[in-house]
Amino acid sequence: MCLLGGYMYNETDYKPFIELKNVSFSYGTKPILQDISLSIPQGKLVAIMGGSGCGKTTLLRLLSGQVKPQSGSVWVDGCEVNRLSDRDLLALRRRLGMLFQFGALFTDLNVFENVAFPLREHTQLPEAMIRDLVLMKLQAVGLRGTANLMPSQLSGGMSRRVALARAIALDPALMLYDEPFTGLDPIALGTIAVLIRRLNDALKTTAVMVTHDVHVSLNILDYVYFIAEGRIVAQGTPHEVRVSTDPFVRQFVQGEADGPVRLHYPAADYAAELGLKQ
Ligand SMILES: Nc1ncnc2c1ncn2[C@@H]1O[C@H](COP(=O)(O)OP(=O)(O)O)[C@@H](O)[C@H]1O
Ligand SMILES: [Mg+2]
Repeated sequence: MCLLGGYMYNETDYKPFIELKNVSFSYGTKPILQDISLSIPQGKLVAIMGGSGCGKTTLLRLLSGQVKPQSGSVWVDGCEVNRLSDRDLLALRRRLGMLFQFGALFTDLNVFENVAFPLREHTQLPEAMIRDLVLMKLQAVGLRGTANLMPSQLSGGMSRRVALARAIALDPALMLYDEPFTGLDPIALGTIAVLIRRLNDALKTTAVMVTHDVHVSLNILDYVYFIAEGRIVAQGTPHEVRVSTDPFVRQFVQGEADGPVRLHYPAADYAAELGLKQ
């Protein structure tokens, strides 16, 4: 049975909120993710890290049911996403909040209307209640004072925070963050990172964050999965990641140019290609 109505697992029948079981996915004949299994308990903030193009965004699209795996299964809150009817998928998506790379706001709507948008779209709440909810979400990201400003009047960091307020407008059970720190200066980045953690704790949201920003995210995460060449190559708590001797994790954490993930794309022997070798 599909339990979309905010079913609470008790401790004896604990199930992960998110589970990928042996998931493989390819675009056409190009394999992207291979035999991925992971599970995320309710209320946790977990990151998927890996180089660009390794399939992180694709993994989020599997969770929201935008793409289906060729094999394996994706489970969110007790539902197998790839088997949901259109109606149930819509119901699931309504419980999802997403903050994407450039978290674009509607430029012709003011801050208040941007945050009100999902409430107007998905609920029939009276205006007074929408107003209270919008102000509450803006207060949560420290920007209640900007309600009447237009997006063009905000800094990059403020825009991202408004996008975050909009993403949590419907109190999502699951938040998906795709590179939420991209393009922010270090201070704005630190602010949004702390907000993401605080909101997760306050709203008891389960969150999956895709990022390559190891240092900031290790401060706020519960757990990390590292993906390379479509597979999970390492995983652990932030502490385990920091002290890990795994060469892949070291390369990632220390930002080394070369390591298990090669600097050079596979190529024919260089000398041979230059005609220096018979
Ligand atoms: N719609 C698509 N059709 C074909 N290939 C795609 C599509 N979307 C992404 N890809 C390819 O799949 C790979 C993984 O993409 P993506 O999940 O966006 O990576 P990441 O988010 O880790 O940078 C990349 O090589 C990308 O070019
Ligand atoms: Mg991506």
